Amino acid sequence: MFETIEGIKRTHKCAQLTKANIGEEVVLMGFTNSVRNLGGLIFINLRDVSGIIQCVFNTDNAEMYEKAAKVRDEFVLAVVGTVAARDEAVVNKNMATGEIEIIAKELRILSKAQTPPFYIVENSDVKEDLRLTYRYLDLRRPDMQRHLITRSKVAQIVRNFYIDNGFYEIETPILMKSTPEGARDYLVPSRVHNGKFYALPQSPQIYKQLLMISGMDRYFQIAKCFRDEDLRADRQPEFTQIDLEMSFVDMDDILSLNEQLIAKIFKEIKGIDVELPFLRMPYSEAMDRFGSDKPDTRFGLEIKDISSDVKGCGFKVFADAIDNGGSVRAINAKGLADKISRKNIDALQEFTKTYKAKGLAWIKVNADGIQSPIAKFLTEDEMNVVVATTDAQVNDVIFIVADKNKVVFDSLGALRIEIAKQHGLIDNNKFNFLWVTDFPLLEYDEEEGRFVAMHHPFTAPKDEDIQYLDSDPGRVRAKAYDIILNGVELGGGSMRIYNTDLQEKMFGVIGLSNEDAWERFGFLLEAFKYGAPPHGGMAYGFDRLIMLLDGCDSIRDVMAFPKVQNASELMSGAPGPVDTKQLEELGIKTKAEK
Ligand code: AMO
Ligand code: AMP
Repeated sequence: MFETIEGIKRTHKCAQLTKANIGEEVVLMGFTNSVRNLGGLIFINLRDVSGIIQCVFNTDNAEMYEKAAKVRDEFVLAVVGTVAARDEAVVNKNMATGEIEIIAKELRILSKAQTPPFYIVENSDVKEDLRLTYRYLDLRRPDMQRHLITRSKVAQIVRNFYIDNGFYEIETPILMKSTPEGARDYLVPSRVHNGKFYALPQSPQIYKQLLMISGMDRYFQIAKCFRDEDLRADRQPEFTQIDLEMSFVDMDDILSLNEQLIAKIFKEIKGIDVELPFLRMPYSEAMDRFGSDKPDTRFGLEIKDISSDVKGCGFKVFADAIDNGGSVRAINAKGLADKISRKNIDALQEFTKTYKAKGLAWIKVNADGIQSPIAKFLTEDEMNVVVATTDAQVNDVIFIVADKNKVVFDSLGALRIEIAKQHGLIDNNKFNFLWVTDFPLLEYDEEEGRFVAMHHPFTAPKDEDIQYLDSDPGRVRAKAYDIILNGVELGGGSMRIYNTDLQEKMFGVIGLSNEDAWERFGFLLEAFKYGAPPHGGMAYGFDRLIMLLDGCDSIRDVMAFPKVQNASELMSGAPGPVDTKQLEELGIKTKAEK
């Protein structure tokens, strides 16, 4: 019933064949993409990872013809035949192999297939949940296979690049002690040490630093990382980093080497010459101009501070925001006044509320004058100054938010992207790279009531700011940098602390007692005492890089078996229950147990 491939050897992949192969006898193996039975002539489009080719079965060989008549979509076939030119009239220009076809002389059905739950076609509009439940079928679709192939190619470029630059690829443990990167850990219980747990790495951060202390000089790894955090389009609980660390270098060395890698990847994968060096922008400028530490610089709509213009105005909301240490800032939607209706403005106001803005004031500059709900609160002079500061002309709309700076930046930062999307201001063919530098070392966590590390607690403060670590921690800037592409944080890194005293101090500033610090990170603090080279590094989100290279909306599209919103994997059903016996061995009782 099932045939084998004994006695024949696959000679080509389907789409490898061209007119140059006409007359050759070939053996192809793959999946049935489609069948057309014209009675007396059967056309089967055979698909493998390389592409699709048409195979023709005629009645010359009656037994083979009968067999071909039984073939259904997704049957797995071996076809022996001769490459032939198609008649001019039936050349298919939409198909890479559209000028040729295979005149079959032998057919073997290697495997039958049920009717799949969805069509295996490019750009399927089938619901993602169904695709993920049958991911192995979803991955038969050519666009999905292309993403996995891009992924494989980029991994190869990355390996060659770092090896060529004196790096060694070194694996670090998956079962380890918790490394803080700001998310929750995934824990693994220990059978041998009941009540104790390994943590899966949120990143290889501490180990790669220890490799520098080991004298390995330059390390890289394409590393699996695990973070128990809320999922988004660009966030998965299990993801991959291109992770690296270098000794005896400064920040410039790290950035310039890494932008060469990015240039190489974009050249080899997309044929694009990216301009080097990348723009660098301090964090404070990114926030002031774009309201974001990962600005999309493909379009304008920059933020302007109008606090001093409206400081003394009659609008209490504005005056209060400034008095309370906040600000009043604006963006100018240039030339969009006639395209943004009152209804649109109401919707934009609702949109900014999701970023905690209490309102969204606006000023339309019409040919016959100003139209604005806050016109009544501003003198003509004040209005003119606001119009001048925001460089507004006829047919512009100014949007204003007054609040604490965080709310102002969050809401206007998101609003500029929303307006750009709604009005087609984003050029999808552009790749705007940017290094954001000089991040604050710490940020205040209201919930925890303490400072937390903005990057991670191993990041070095800028030398000139160390003096403020005790007196004004919020003011200290870090030797940290992020690489941004089109508004997505592609990667980030920093120069590291490499002496025990400063590292102990850093732990102290984030509220870790010296005892706790030694309990959790004693091995690192100790290691610094045996001679640590100055070092730094970074990590890219590998999945995000592939997503951007292939123009996907989600990293799920570039991962073979991703998880969904609630962190489960639909195909296998992970996570799943385990045997009571297994739990007993681990010394674990779950609340879920009846
Ligand atoms: P960071 O936490 O910034 O730095 O992570 C580096 C990059 O990894 C990607 N990334 C993710 N991608 C998908 N899903 C996630 N849940 C996820 N979380 C992060 C992002 C991010 O920029 N050890 C440091 C690096 C260093 O300092 O060298 C680190 O992990 O693209
Ligand atoms: P009101 O007089 O309360 O109707 O407000 C007049 C305008 O100011 C409305 O368009 C509000 O959306 C806007 N507004 C209210 N609070 C703020 C704020 N914090 N920042 C910016 N605009 C605001």
